[in-house]
Amino acid sequence: MTDHILVERQGAIQIIRMNRPDKKNALTRAMYAKMSKALAEGDADSAIRVHVFLGVPGAFSSGNDLADFMVVATGGDGGTEVWDFLMALAKVEKPMVSGVDGIAVGIGTTLNLHCDLTFATPRTVFRTPFVDLGLVPEAGSSLLAPRVLGQQAAFALLGLGEGFSAERAKTAGLIYEVVEEAALEASVLAAAGQIAAKPPQALKIARDLMRGSRDDLVARIGEESEHFRERLKSDEARAALTAFITRKKAEPLLQG
Ligand code: COA
Repeated sequence: MTDHILVERQGAIQIIRMNRPDKKNALTRAMYAKMSKALAEGDADSAIRVHVFLGVPGAFSSGNDLADFMVVATGGDGGTEVWDFLMALAKVEKPMVSGVDGIAVGIGTTLNLHCDLTFATPRTVFRTPFVDLGLVPEAGSSLLAPRVLGQQAAFALLGLGEGFSAERAKTAGLIYEVVEEAALEASVLAAAGQIAAKPPQALKIARDLMRGSRDDLVARIGEESEHFRERLKSDEARAALTAFITRKKAEPLLQG
């Protein structure tokens, strides 16, 4: 199993750390699988009261590994790992806190829509270039982002692929707090500790009430996934993925 995901426990806090710095934490199928397993195990263990997602300095995640997308785009099997992780996110029973520093692309942004609290550093930019890749929003973001951000900011994020600075993300309600890089992990762990100290049954009921039924979320993730799989095989997506994979170093896919 990969060490690109490190799972650690600190008391009642389970920390899931994305750790593939050379690829800016692009997520492979094995990484999704390990994160799903951690969420399931943490949920099942009464000693764990909160899940925490962290990345590496400068990169929370650059999104799904585009080479994995290319496999599907060229007729290969995409596996079920991404789907399993999205279901785990939608159905997780315990609160989730994330700490985001730097790059937060694709699922690196949409994961946070499922979190109860997200802290981000000033240099963080949230971005979802789905449409530019010939794709569609995923992880329930087409449902959650309009709810959280309002229709127009959600369109700017998901439709236009605009980058949201940490400050803008906070003003828009996408994240809880902006903290300096040096204070990020301490802030995340302090918040997680605060959550862990609450009466767990009362907190669970309160969280369930705030989230409501997950049925519409699960249904939307299914609808998005159908389109996503189809879109991956489109000429638009194949051209965008080929451009990234064959690009020269000096030509980042994302500008600005
Ligand atoms: N999938 C696969 N590899 C990725 C990746 C991804 N999503 N994001 C970055 N990488 C790889 C790069 O190919 C590069 O690999 P190399 O060193 O072997 O050439 C390495 O990670 C570092 O990336 P680089 O582009 O040099 O870093 P950067 O700081 O200049 O730019 C990004 C970072 C995230 C802006 C840029 O890599 C990018 O646009 N990535 C694609 C993001 C994306 O579209 N994700 C999917 C969303 S649905």
